[in-house]
Formats: sequence, structure tokens, C-alpha cells
Amino acid sequence: MQAIRIGLLGLGTVGSGTAEVLQKNAAEISRRLGREVRLAMVSSRDAAKARSVCPDAQYMADPFELVRHPDVDIVVELFGGTQIAKDLVLEAVENGKHVVTANKKLLAEYGNEIFALAGRKNVMVQFEAAVAGGIPIIKALREGMSANRIKSIMGIINGTSNFILSEMREKGSPFAQVLKQAQELGYAEADPTFDIEGHDAGHKITIMSALAFGTPVNFGACYLEGISKLDARDIRYAEELGYRVKLLGITRLSEKGVELRVHPTLLPECRLLANVNGVMNAVRVNADMVGETLYYGAGAGALPTASAVVADIIDISRLLSADSGHRVPYLAFQPGRLQEVHFLSMDEITSSYYLRVQAADKAGVLGSIANILAGEGISIEALIQKGVLDNNQAEIVILTHSTVEQNIRRAIPRIEAEASVSAPVVMIRMESLND
Ligand code: NDP
Ligand code: HSE
Repeated sequence: MQAIRIGLLGLGTVGSGTAEVLQKNAAEISRRLGREVRLAMVSSRDAAKARSVCPDAQYMADPFELVRHPDVDIVVELFGGTQIAKDLVLEAVENGKHVVTANKKLLAEYGNEIFALAGRKNVMVQFEAAVAGGIPIIKALREGMSANRIKSIMGIINGTSNFILSEMREKGSPFAQVLKQAQELGYAEADPTFDIEGHDAGHKITIMSALAFGTPVNFGACYLEGISKLDARDIRYAEELGYRVKLLGITRLSEKGVELRVHPTLLPECRLLANVNGVMNAVRVNADMVGETLYYGAGAGALPTASAVVADIIDISRLLSADSGHRVPYLAFQPGRLQEVHFLSMDEITSSYYLRVQAADKAGVLGSIANILAGEGISIEALIQKGVLDNNQAEIVILTHSTVEQNIRRAIPRIEAEASVSAPVVMIRMESLND
């Protein structure tokens, strides 16, 4: 049987990893697939690197020539970003090429357009590596879960942020130093603000939300809050109270609509998710028939991500001759059966909360804060004074029971308006993982 011919775009972290996997595991891959996968062409800026990393592949200075080339069966897009990558993917699809991409930003922002064109052109677009690196979560959601109504997904889905939070907690390392390390290890995005401000996790939870609930991809509906403003004190206080702080992507279906959000979250330390450290990712899926399932593995890095890219290549190769009606739909549900849903604003979501208040250490302060919370219908689970600062200011940490976020948003300015309160209130959401 003729070899499957790959056209590879990009030889950065994931592109080089993909070339390595295809070369090192060539025999094992062909033993699984029944035919050879050949790295036929490669395009990147650095021709010398291309020749050394992929000595048997033809180098193409112009990536558009590669995506149109008749000797390419599958285009693997690993440039990243949404400018040239979008044009290349659309051009590849237009030319009848199947596409594998690890580009979550591209799919979260332009997935609907790409899948629509791919459907018309009868080609596959696979994206396992776009979410949670080496964890086969897309396959789990699209295929393994297909008998279920999915209720919620929560995940640690940004390796860089999790690496930073873990290093800060375990070694007390400064944020900037750990971020630099994550960049050197190839975990971070080309622009690492996407990692630390929650955008990357937002892209990933947006894709998973669409797969879970059968909706078009809607990144605009995703609330984003990253880890850059987290104070090491809150990580420490959370720990003292039996919690870990993790950057979580959350999507949940309720009668009111779909929640879609990314933010730092306190998790009880006894939970498996709370103990996912370093660059590791984990995704917890709750569905009506199977119940709770948890997927764990490396969320970034050359070879784990390449493992997912190459698995997609193998999947496409197996399905090349299948009628399009027998392929797994791009977004798990039949394209004509996707449904628009109401995405909840943050005011409408329900959560419990960690609040840190800095106030004068004098009688009556705790009582007035408790009164404000009660007045907004918020019930307190725990209220702890963390000690007195130099200027006779006390730090008070409050854990609330579950409440609608608009209650908290009303309570915070009222607390800050108290004469005894001397700094903005810190608020971090909490999840018990009891649903
Ligand atoms: P890198 O920045 O390491 O690599 C990108 C590669 O594409 C580089 O070789 C770059 O060349 C090349 N490239 C980009 N634009 C052009 C262009 N216009 N013309 C020619 N070459 C170009 O990125 P990663 O490998 O880390 O990421 C690739 C994709 O995979 C991204 O979408 C990312 O989000 C995703 N991803 C990354 C993971 C990781 O662990 N790193 C994990 C999962 C997904 P040059 O170096 O010369 O600029
Ligand atoms: N920058 C991403 C991360 C790469 O740190 O998770 C994997 O998608």
C-alpha cells in the first residue's frame, strides 16, 4: 500500500517532536496502521534546521506551495497563531487535504468556519494535541463518551500555569523565574501572556465545551482570569486551610445554560485534581451514565504533544477510505444538529468563595463584614483572622458557602467601603468537586 504523505508546517517544539516520533516509531506505527507514514515535505523558516531534523523530507520555503502540493495527503499545522495558520489550514482544506493541528487558538476562534469548509470539502480536521497535550481527551469526549449526556468538565489544562503554581508552592520560586523556565522547557506559548492570563486554557475549555454540549465553538462566551495577579500569600493561606490553588477551566450545563470560564480556583487538597502538579494536566468529566472520569498526563512539551499529533495522523490514515457519514463528526455531534445555547454571565454562575479582607484590628470589624455578607444572602463556612500586620491591620480570610456570584459582587464593594477596611478585597472562587 502507498505510504501516507505528510506535509509538516513548523519545526518548533511540537513540529520537531512530531518529526522525531514519526522517525523513531516508524516501524511501530506501520505495524499498527498497515502502511507507512512518510514525512514527505516540511516548511519552516530555517532551511538548515529542516534538513537536519527531517533529512528525507523535501524542504518548501513557501508553506502555501506545501499545502497545495499534490504529493501531500495530510497537512500538519504546527506554526501556531491565527494569521498565516488560518490561511494555510483553509487553503489546505480547499485543496482537499486532511489537516492535523495542535492550534487551539485557531480552533477556538475560527473552528466553526474551518469545520464548515472541511465538511463541504469532505476532509478530516483532527486536533487531539490542541487540548491537554498528550492526554487523548478529544477522543474520550468525541467517542468514549458518546453514550452520555455530559454534565460538566473541569480541567487543569494549561501546563505552564500549573508548572508555575506548583513551583511557587513547593519551592517558593518567584513567578518570573518559573515562567522563564517554562519557556525554556518549550511549555509556554510563543506569547506566554496567553498562558498566564488564562487565554490558552480558555481556548481549550471552549473546544471541550462545544464537544460536550453539541454547540458551535464560542470563545467569546468564555470568562478569562489568569494567575498573574495571584498573591503568594493566598496560595499559602489556602494551603493552611486545606486547599490548593489551581488554574481551572470549567464548563457546566445547567437548566439556566452553559457556564464557560477559566480562573484560579481553590480545590480541597484531598481531591485528585488538587494534586496534579508541574506540567501535568488533568481533565475531570462528569456524565450522566458513566459518572465521573478523570484523564491525566503531560499537558505540554515536544514528545507528549507529538504523540497526540501522530495519533491523529494514524486515525486519519485509517479513515481515508471511509464515507464521510461514517466519520466521527468534527464537534462530536452531527454538524446540522449543533444547538445554540445561552452562556451564563459570571453574575449568574454559582460557586463558593475565598475572600481576604485587610481591616483595622479592632472590635466590631468582623461583625460588620459578617453582616454585609448575610445581607447579600451569603452564608459563611469559615472566618479566620490570619494575624496582625505591622500597621495594626488584620488579615481576615472568609470561606463562603455556595452562592450566586452577583451576591459576592454586590458584597465586595460594600465591604471595601467600610472605614476599617484598608485594601481591596481579594476574591478567589472555590470548587468542592461534589457535583
Ligand atoms: P514554536 O514557536 O516552538 O514553533 C512554531 C514553528 O513554526 C517554528 O518552527 C516557527 O519558525 C514556525 N513558523 C511560525 N510561523 C511561521 C511562518 N510564518 N513561516 C514559517 N515558519 C513559521 O511553537 P510550538 O511548537 O510550541 O507550538 C506549535 C503549535 O502547537 C501552537 O499552536 C501551540 O499552541 C500548539 N501546542 C504547543 C504545545 C507545546 O507544548 N509547546 C502543546 C500543545 C499545543 P521560527 O522558529 O523560525 O519562528
Ligand atoms: N502553552 C500550553 C501549555 C501548551 O502550557 O499548556 C500546551 O497546550
